[in-house]
Amino acid sequence: MTSQVPIIAIDGPSTSGKGTVAKLVAEKLGFHYLDSGSIYRTIAYAGRMQNIPLDNEALLLKVLENADLSFKNDQILLNGKDVSEAIRSEESGRGASEVAVHKALREAILGFQRSFEKPPGLVAEGRDMTSVVFPHAGIKIFLTASAQIRAERRYKQLISKGNSANMASVLSEIILRDKRDLQREISPLLKTKDAIEIDTDTLSISDAVDNITHLFSLKSQTS
Ligand code: C5P
Repeated sequence: MTSQVPIIAIDGPSTSGKGTVAKLVAEKLGFHYLDSGSIYRTIAYAGRMQNIPLDNEALLLKVLENADLSFKNDQILLNGKDVSEAIRSEESGRGASEVAVHKALREAILGFQRSFEKPPGLVAEGRDMTSVVFPHAGIKIFLTASAQIRAERRYKQLISKGNSANMASVLSEIILRDKRDLQREISPLLKTKDAIEIDTDTLSISDAVDNITHLFSLKSQTS
């Protein structure tokens, strides 16, 4: 089944640039944007705030049940509080990949993620957008880059925000997160057969955005 609403689904490993690329593609096309990673980050953040071990799925489901999670412009609100900055920490990223292994929790947020499928269109990014959440997306992209390049980008980001960072530990954190995302049983990160791979090792963000919008216009002409 192909959706009536145009969907561009973008998956890829952490720091591949998919967040920036997806957001710019959405802006360019005037589409809605879903950053699915921020949902996992917010659940991890909410769990930590309540001292809940992130391997306890039953308790995390309770946290989710009682949480009012919403997106407002560029802000992510948890029970009305803006947590956009707080969930960007390395700790929340790590926590997100720990909570993301829980099957029932992933199922519990499917409906919320799919509620973003609205006219005039959607650009959704994460790990299972192409495979599980929007398998009917008209355009599927696997955006990737080598672990070394991704670590360099993340290191620069951290330093530019005034954080202290160590290149070796940034790289090992990225490798660990990749491993967890690729090897987990439920909805692992994978490149679906119908996804187009874009490698951002040597490609600029704006070129990646242009490639995707070009693919979209070609697809719109033929359907
Ligand atoms: O994309 P981001 O780095 O914000 O994602 C944080 C973590 O959330 C990922 O490492 C992954 O474990 C998890 N995630 C996921 N499925 C998604 C999006 C994110 O499992 N669709």
